[in-house]
Amino acid sequence: MTTTYLVTGGAGFIGSNFVLGLLQNRKRDIRVVNLDKLTYAGNLANLGALEGDERHIFVQADICDREVVAALFERWQPRYVVNFAAESHVDRSIEDPDVFVRTNVGGTVTLLQAAKQAWEQPAEPLGYRPGVRFLQVSTDEVYGSLGAEGFFTEDTPLDPHSPYSASKAAADLLAQAFFDTYRLPVNITRCSNNYGPFQFPEKLIPLMLNNALQHQPLPVYGDGLQVRDWLYVEDHCRAIELVLEHGVAGEVYNIGGHNERTNLQIVQAILAYVAKNVDKVVDDGLITHVTDRKGHDRRYGIDPRKIGEALGWQPQTAFEQGIVRTLDWYLAHQDWLADVTSGAYLSYYQKIYGDR
Ligand code: NAD
Ligand code: TYD
Repeated sequence: MTTTYLVTGGAGFIGSNFVLGLLQNRKRDIRVVNLDKLTYAGNLANLGALEGDERHIFVQADICDREVVAALFERWQPRYVVNFAAESHVDRSIEDPDVFVRTNVGGTVTLLQAAKQAWEQPAEPLGYRPGVRFLQVSTDEVYGSLGAEGFFTEDTPLDPHSPYSASKAAADLLAQAFFDTYRLPVNITRCSNNYGPFQFPEKLIPLMLNNALQHQPLPVYGDGLQVRDWLYVEDHCRAIELVLEHGVAGEVYNIGGHNERTNLQIVQAILAYVAKNVDKVVDDGLITHVTDRKGHDRRYGIDPRKIGEALGWQPQTAFEQGIVRTLDWYLAHQDWLADVTSGAYLSYYQKIYGDR
């Protein structure tokens, strides 16, 4: 029997990698209903490889739209919901928090409510259609910032600092509340910084690569010694599949790659790669320290032991391998990069970096 996934935000960075991975590599006899509003971050070109594939049903709509969401549940009867749709960029949330609350909080509760209504089956022992699962894709940023020592576990108290992370924490609490109150079978996954193909160049790695290719300054916030824990996107997507199929309802799972790097290390690695493979004149001289991000979290680091022990997940991509794969992908898809950095991107760039 065909298993239906309702994936939201499936035209964005992680969502498109997830949909492609499911349909092209990992699963048979499935259908993916991909609900995406196509904001600046959503891009149907990411899904070009699925053209003509009837197992992929794309619906351009807003996760806050109750009627559309309810109609999709009614028509397609999804077994799994994976909620990637979100406003995802911290710098944008500092400029304009409202849309983060609307989509990340309001949209998530709309989806939770629709799932509850569509899946309720009082005669079933658990009160819901057997096998269903709602997975809320969250972030380690809800835990706040670490000092030099220690890692985030699933029990670390929530302490978000940016409007983005606060909106994600609110969504997590609502997802948890739907489990605690209604026993809706929910999981929350909290991952570290992802990298890989199709990431919008507002985020560190593709932004720095794009600037290096254009011989533009590389804007490092503050001293550049902030630490992020980098996770290759395909490793993340595999973890999500495992949680959907084998996670215990109501549980949170942290997903991290054991790949802590300072921002400067990342930027230097990108410059060295470009100098070696593209353009010898590029060097560290392009690094420009600019005014720090407001409320900038110093360090993120995930303890992923729970998902390893409970579900057997381990990251498979070493950073050295993943970063080369990622940079090579961008170099081979410079038309994609040029497309997404034209038009509105230029005014975004001016707004965020113009006065720094
Ligand atoms: P992204 O910004 O690349 O993509 C977001 C997608 O959601 C886009 O396709 C956009 O069109 C869609 N979207 C936005 N608002 C919508 C709405 N109201 N209705 C329907 N669709 C809407 O984001 P991403 O980096 O792929 O992140 C996906 C999820 O993973 C997010 O929930 C994010 O918080 C979480 N996350 C991301 C990272 C990371 O490193 N990128 C790390 C941890 C968690
Ligand atoms: P980002 O990719 O925005 O992810 P997040 O804020 O969710 O961790 O940023 C990663 C790190 O890189 C973060 O510490 C901020 C820093 N950064 C810069 O120094 N300069 C930049 O232009 C950007 C986009 C990020």
